[in-house]
Amino acid sequence: MSQDKITSILKEDRKFTPPESFAAQANLTPELYKALKEEADRDYEGFWARLAKEELVWDKEFDTTLEWEPPFAKWFTGGTLNMSVQCLDRHLNTANHNKAAIVWEGEPGEQRTLTYAQLHSEVCKAANALESLGIKAGDRVALYMPMIPELAISLLACARIGATHNVIFGGFSANAIRDRVEDSECKLVITADGGWRRGKVLKLKEKVDEALNQGCPSVEHVLCVKRCDNHVIWNDDRDIWWHDIMPKQKTKHTPDSFDAEHPLFILYTSGTTGSPKGVVHSTGGYALWSKISAKWVFDLKPQDMYWCTADIGWITGHSYIVYGPLQNGATTLMYEGAPNWPEADRFWDMIERHRVSIFYTAPTAIRAFMKWGDEHPEAHDLSSLRLLGTVGEPINPEAWMWYHEKIGDSSCPIVDTWWQTETGGMMLSPVPGVTTTTPGSATHPLPGIQAAIFDSEGNEMPRGEGGFLVITKPWPSMLRTVYKNPERFKNGYFGRFEGVYFAGDGARTDDDGNFWILGRIDDVINVSGHRLSTMEIESALVSHDFVAEAAVVPREDDLTGQAIVCFVTLEEGDEGDALRAELSAHVVKEIGSLARPAAIHFTDALPKTRSGKIMRRILADVAAGRQPGDVTTLEDSSVLEKLRTIANETV
Ligand code: WTA
Repeated sequence: MSQDKITSILKEDRKFTPPESFAAQANLTPELYKALKEEADRDYEGFWARLAKEELVWDKEFDTTLEWEPPFAKWFTGGTLNMSVQCLDRHLNTANHNKAAIVWEGEPGEQRTLTYAQLHSEVCKAANALESLGIKAGDRVALYMPMIPELAISLLACARIGATHNVIFGGFSANAIRDRVEDSECKLVITADGGWRRGKVLKLKEKVDEALNQGCPSVEHVLCVKRCDNHVIWNDDRDIWWHDIMPKQKTKHTPDSFDAEHPLFILYTSGTTGSPKGVVHSTGGYALWSKISAKWVFDLKPQDMYWCTADIGWITGHSYIVYGPLQNGATTLMYEGAPNWPEADRFWDMIERHRVSIFYTAPTAIRAFMKWGDEHPEAHDLSSLRLLGTVGEPINPEAWMWYHEKIGDSSCPIVDTWWQTETGGMMLSPVPGVTTTTPGSATHPLPGIQAAIFDSEGNEMPRGEGGFLVITKPWPSMLRTVYKNPERFKNGYFGRFEGVYFAGDGARTDDDGNFWILGRIDDVINVSGHRLSTMEIESALVSHDFVAEAAVVPREDDLTGQAIVCFVTLEEGDEGDALRAELSAHVVKEIGSLARPAAIHFTDALPKTRSGKIMRRILADVAAGRQPGDVTTLEDSSVLEKLRTIANETV
């Protein structure tokens, strides 16, 4: 954390101006974009108040735009609204009534289309069902589900009745479910018997049972969708089938209206210390920014077929599969399974069949597509595409160029969007009809977002130099707190600079004022765009009986961006592949398969400073196969010998 100067050796000067044909039809023209930026600079609150009035359906108008008592913000206070109304009811008396809201494809190939009217009926039924189970506004509901329409329906049903949803990614372990359900004291868990992934059934209900057997006393019911028809153990007192409860419900539901600050959802994410943090998002501010950022950045038009390949278990799916697109009346494509099932061309085949026009995916996926071979996209007609996007980690320029040429036929703008679970929506991104892009840069803050790069004293860095990426003013979709832990919110995000949000990433600007993200500066590893805390992986390792101490560091990886490398000292047991495999399985069991270590090294001791701090820099060198650099502050240099051997073996 001591580094406040981060140097970058990357020199990239290829530039791409928006294609004329795109710019001519774009929602945001250069003039509008400029006007928005000027308006936000001139009258920050007035800017947001105007947008909130124009874009959202308020049951009661707000009287105050922003109450800012750093680090606590309240937006649009006095106003009340309902998020499911923004997404559904508002479209019912318009041309969108019979328009497809969700087009879904299961991994085995089934398809379902729900129009706005049909989705509205399903959400009303689900809202009634939740109420019949005793769920009220303010209760928390956990969702541990595959990517099926019922997941979106459940999300919107919670929003409709004011229950705060807590989506847990379907790849997480029973322990991870238990931690999240217990921390947020959920009354209900919605799940499915299973979900399809690479032709196999992921047994979701089984994981939920395991979590509930270990604890989770707050849970009264488990609502279960039948998806794969795999065997499940049934608890008659607690478990309810979706297909039993839903047909009994009315297709009408009168929505209540909630305060703009009502907590819409909690989403857990990895932070610098220990347990995952429950990031809390509000209703009004989140609704506003997920809506307009999607409209500006994806240039959404009535005829678009929009596809974001994320899972709803992550923030990207919340904001840009469900809430952003639906508020805009767009058609959002939702896919259940893996990108290479049954073949490596599944995504291109889907783009061709569904005539996808806007495609949003992650750099790690793009690198995998490159590896699988150009023949797969080449075998398909991708001419429906008009805009491409990426999110989750820095995109390396080669991957950007491949995406541009092979997928976008050198004619689609690419929006590289930088944001976080905590920001609720995109913060830095090109606007496709306006911004000149450069491969690897997320370019500029969106209108209304005030980003800067600071040195460790909080001074703005000159162009070209790296530092801390900060947001200097509150914005509507910012996280409001860490669930039940305002201190952690305060220290974790506003502790470094007074009243200024620090995001955990390093960045620099270039001569054109473009921002370049240089990666995380905290103890978080970004594997395939997913944030994992080194602390969590270390505690998982140490929870194994044989392990005395563990340290986890990232290593660059061509495919996943970063990979997990573990250094372990043992209390007992034999150093060898058998124990390696066992420890690896143990981490997967504790956290989930995303956290599977790429390497586990046994060592007699960990390198520490005299004050007892693990010197991760040395371990990072060793993990990369480099001989450790400056070791002068090392307390006991005898550990180096073993580490040097490991480094040599790693090359
Ligand atoms: C990283 C995902 C570079 C970054 C929406 C951030 C990126 C973390 C980009 C948040 C990007 C996300 N360029 N890095 N375009 N987008 N990141 O919370 O390190 O899962 O802090 O949110 O991903 O991950 P999270």
